[in-house]
Amino acid sequence: MSLKQPLKSGERILFIIFGVFFVLAAIGYVVLESIRLSSDEPMFEQTTFFDFSEDGLLGSTIYRKANCNACHRALRSGTSMGLSLDGLGSKYSAERIENFLHEPQEYYHGPTIDHGYPPKEAAYVSRMSDEDLRLMAVFISELKANPGSSVAKMPPPGRSEFIDAMVGSFAPQEWKDKYKDIRDKQPEESVPETANE
Ligand code: HEC
Repeated sequence: MSLKQPLKSGERILFIIFGVFFVLAAIGYVVLESIRLSSDEPMFEQTTFFDFSEDGLLGSTIYRKANCNACHRALRSGTSMGLSLDGLGSKYSAERIENFLHEPQEYYHGPTIDHGYPPKEAAYVSRMSDEDLRLMAVFISELKANPGSSVAKMPPPGRSEFIDAMVGSFAPQEWKDKYKDIRDKQPEESVPETANE
């Protein structure tokens, strides 16, 4: 009996299908990379932006020295493992962020992971000086996001017929009485300077 058995026709078909997928994936990768490398435009739309005040710039220096980027991402750099702060200013006001930095646990009304009391790893943050915390909060509150991006509080401008229809037909009446449409609270065009909670 020979050790080499001829492939059954079903096996051959499976191999061919797998081979076709593999070749297509390789071609796709080469095409995508060559477009990406030769194009001047960024492949993905940037949805976060910033425009710093004087205090915000000071805050960014303090932020950098305080090693926040060990766990966070801001200005599109830092670690990708932790929480991204880009766009946070379109969700929370500087005041809210400052309150969080001072008293994270009281603020979250619950357990925190790294901010809080020692021996938590970021316990040092709430022990920084009041002025440092204020300036860093201003800096973070100036990290904005376009409405509709995943890190913005506001949905994209304009109405979606689909979503309106879904809400109209599926949301129970008590929800409609209880919750307000976030778009009705603020004008659509403007990204609020300091979004309230
Ligand atoms: C050891 C990791 C670590 C370090 C260092 C760290 N953070 Fe955090 N940060 C976290 C985690 C985790 C959270 C989520 C809250 C929690 O559970 O502690 C958080 C939450 C936050 C939030 C609230 C985000 C939100 O969406 O509510 C802000 C603002 C923040 N950090 C700012 C800072 C600043 C400023 C520094 C530096 C002075 C810093 N952090 C240093 C881990 C860290």
